[in-house]
Amino acid sequence: MSSNLDALYRRVIMDHYKKPRNRGVLEDGSHTINMNNPTCGDRIHLTFNVKDGIVEDAKFEGEGCSISMSSASMMTEAIKGKKVEEALKLAKIFSDMMLGKEYDDEVDLGDIEALQGVAKFPARIKCATLAWKAMEKGLKGEEHE
Ligand code: FES
Repeated sequence: MSSNLDALYRRVIMDHYKKPRNRGVLEDGSHTINMNNPTCGDRIHLTFNVKDGIVEDAKFEGEGCSISMSSASMMTEAIKGKKVEEALKLAKIFSDMMLGKEYDDEVDLGDIEALQGVAKFPARIKCATLAWKAMEKGLKGEEHE
């Protein structure tokens, strides 16, 4: 990756960290999910409002490093207005990206692409995937913590 692209991606990550999108709690959301990163104790609290198979709204709160919080901001932005199955597809693409696997590049990932460099740092992958795993768990209707 060129250093220019690296610098651009860093800027996108820091922008989401400093100005998080969709930060807060949906008081009457349909889904509530809590998850933490066992290696550092950082945590995320997600609330969604899903109606007729569409994620109408999504918010997050939590404490964590710049990677985990910016990833949560990007995730909520990416899934708002999407069908549940599209949101789950994005979660799969993101997971494949973090594992360094081939992923479906037909889908426009927007700011999420900025996190692809994290795949080179195994210790940070759990930071980037925290919000996505929580989202997947919530939308698949697995037991809430
Ligand atoms: Fe805790 Fe990144 S160091 S989520």
